[in-house]
Amino acid sequence: MKIIMLGAPGAGKGTQAKKIAEKYQIPHISTGDIFRANIKNGTELGKKAKTYMDQGLLVPDELVVDLVVDRVGQEDCTKGYVLDGFPRTIPQAEALDKALAELGQKMDFAVDVEVPDENIINRMSGRRACVGCGATYHLVYAPTKMENVCDNCGGELVLRDDDKPETVKKRLDVYHEQTQPLIEYYTNSGILKTVDGTADIGDVFAEIVGILGA
Ligand code: AP5
Ligand code: MG
Ligand code: ZN
Repeated sequence: MKIIMLGAPGAGKGTQAKKIAEKYQIPHISTGDIFRANIKNGTELGKKAKTYMDQGLLVPDELVVDLVVDRVGQEDCTKGYVLDGFPRTIPQAEALDKALAELGQKMDFAVDVEVPDENIINRMSGRRACVGCGATYHLVYAPTKMENVCDNCGGELVLRDDDKPETVKKRLDVYHEQTQPLIEYYTNSGILKTVDGTADIGDVFAEIVGILGA
């Protein structure tokens, strides 16, 4: 099963993608996580990506597309995967469709997690990310067992560099301008499904499972 997660920054794409990956036993491929891992490891790609990410801008298509096309062609993706944060522009979506067509494959679902802008800024200010493994929590909605300690690896929790309110506002503008057109793109290709992302994390997941099948 091949799934794309769509939605504004902070809509819950990563939270839901992780649960989908666990339930359906498919890889969770997050371009944001890939860039953050590269930044942490000080790679050339990480250095380039950081200059855009810190401003709330998208990393240029040419730095993203080959990376994802290469990733979905790997051995562990033969049974499917869940893409989180890609595609985010029409050219990225077209490049993905073209790459899949060359492999004789197609995307099954594009799941749009809908959350109004008003809810997003508040949500992001409470998000915390683990410096060790990148796991995501929320002070109120998805707390850790011990305060400020990652449940997975014991790492320290921090506010992501791009989660400052000014940067979140910029990311929302960029989303509306460059990513929202994908809703129409996937409506036209007949695979768009919309879920209410303002519900509790478990209820959103139940709605998604209802779409994907148990
Ligand atoms: P990326 O990491 O993808 O960030 P994003 O799209 O802005 O989305 P987020 O990760 O911030 O939010 P999310 O939807 O995953 O929400 P989450 O589950 O964490 O990208 C970062 C940057 O990398 C981009 O700005 C860009 O520069 C670059 N980039 C990445 N991919 C790219 C691409 N393809 N092309 C170009 N550039 C690219 O949830 C948010 C918070 O809310 C958490 O604290 C969570 O616990 C909580 N929460 C989740 N669901 C609920 C709920 N139902 N109720 C209450 N709280 C909830
Ligand atoms: Mg995410
Ligand atoms: Zn951790």
